[in-house]
Amino acid sequence: MKATALAHPNIALVKYWGKRDDALILPHQSSLSLTLSPLSVTTTVEFGVPTDAVEINGHTSKGSERERVLRLLESVRAQTKDALGPAKVVSRGDFPMAAGLASSAAGFAALAVAGRAAAGLPSDARAASILARLGSGSACRSVEGGFCEWQRGERPDGDDSFAVQRFDAAHWPDLRMVVAVLDRGEKDVKSRDGMKQTVETSPYYAAWVRDAEEEVPRARAHIARRDLQALGELCERNAWRMHSTSLAADPPLCYLNAGTLGLIQHLREHRKKGIPVWFTLDAGPNPVLLTDAANEVAAEALARACGALDVIRCVPGGDAVLKQEHLF
Ligand code: PMV
Repeated sequence: MKATALAHPNIALVKYWGKRDDALILPHQSSLSLTLSPLSVTTTVEFGVPTDAVEINGHTSKGSERERVLRLLESVRAQTKDALGPAKVVSRGDFPMAAGLASSAAGFAALAVAGRAAAGLPSDARAASILARLGSGSACRSVEGGFCEWQRGERPDGDDSFAVQRFDAAHWPDLRMVVAVLDRGEKDVKSRDGMKQTVETSPYYAAWVRDAEEEVPRARAHIARRDLQALGELCERNAWRMHSTSLAADPPLCYLNAGTLGLIQHLREHRKKGIPVWFTLDAGPNPVLLTDAANEVAAEALARACGALDVIRCVPGGDAVLKQEHLF
C-alpha cells in the first residue's frame, strides 16, 4: 500500500498552451518536450491511513494544489476493486521552485507512478501519463524520459490524450539545456489562468493551435537527425508564437521582462559569432538555452553576463522510476 517514485521535470520544445477541457486537462494542440536530468522530484504515497494528508517540500499542501493531488488519487481508487482508503502523500523536489521550471510536472508524474504502484496497479506508461495529466497537463510528458510527445487526442473522456516517448535520453546525449534564472519571483498570472485568458480572448489563438500542431512532426524530424540548428530555430519561433498569442489576449499577458529581452539580444550576438545557442521560454521570464556539450560553458557564461542569479545545466533525463527508499 506504499510506494515511492522519482520523476524529472521537462521543458517543452513545442509548447502546450490552452485547454479544450479544463476539468480533464485536455489540450487544443499536441506538444513535444525534453525530460531534464539531473533535476528530480520524489514522491511517496501510502493508502489506508486514517485521513488524507499531503505534504509538498516540507509544507502541508492547501487549496487547489491539494485538491489536484486528491483528485488524481481518486482516479487511482476508481481503477481498483480494493477499498484503498485515505492516502498520505509526501513529495520533495531537489531544485528551486523559483527557477520557473514547472516542478509540478515532475511532482505529478512521480505521484501518478507511485500512486498506481501503491494501489497494486501494474506498471503502464500510458495509464500513468493519463493520470499525471489530471494533476497538470505538462506532467503527462514527465512519465517517460528523453523526447516525449503529448498527443492531443480527440475523445471527450481524454483516454487518447497522453504522452508517448519518441526518442529516449540516449538518442542525443550531447544535447544541453541551460536554465537561466533571471527572476526568482512568483509569476503574476499562473499558466492555468494565462492559457484560459488566451483561449478566451486572443484573436491569434486559432493560428497558434494550427501552427503548433504542424511544428510537432517537424521537431520530431529535427530530433531524429540531431539537427541542433533546425531544432533551435523551431524552438525559438514556437516560444515567440506562444508569447505572441498571449500578448494579444485582452488584457494582454506579458511574461517577459527587460532582462529576458536583454539576454535574447546577447544570445543573437553570440550566434553571429558562431556559438550555437537558442532559447525557449515558458510562461515566465527565465529563458532556457538550448545548446550542445561543447558550448554549455559558453551558454552559462552568457546567462551570467546577462544577470542570471542561478544557472542550472541539464542533460536529457530518463523515465520516472520506482524507488525502494520511502520518504516516510
Ligand atoms: O501543465 P502546466 O499547467 O504546468 O502548463 C505548462 C505550460 C507551459 O509550461 C508554458 C508549456 C508546456 O508545454 O510546458
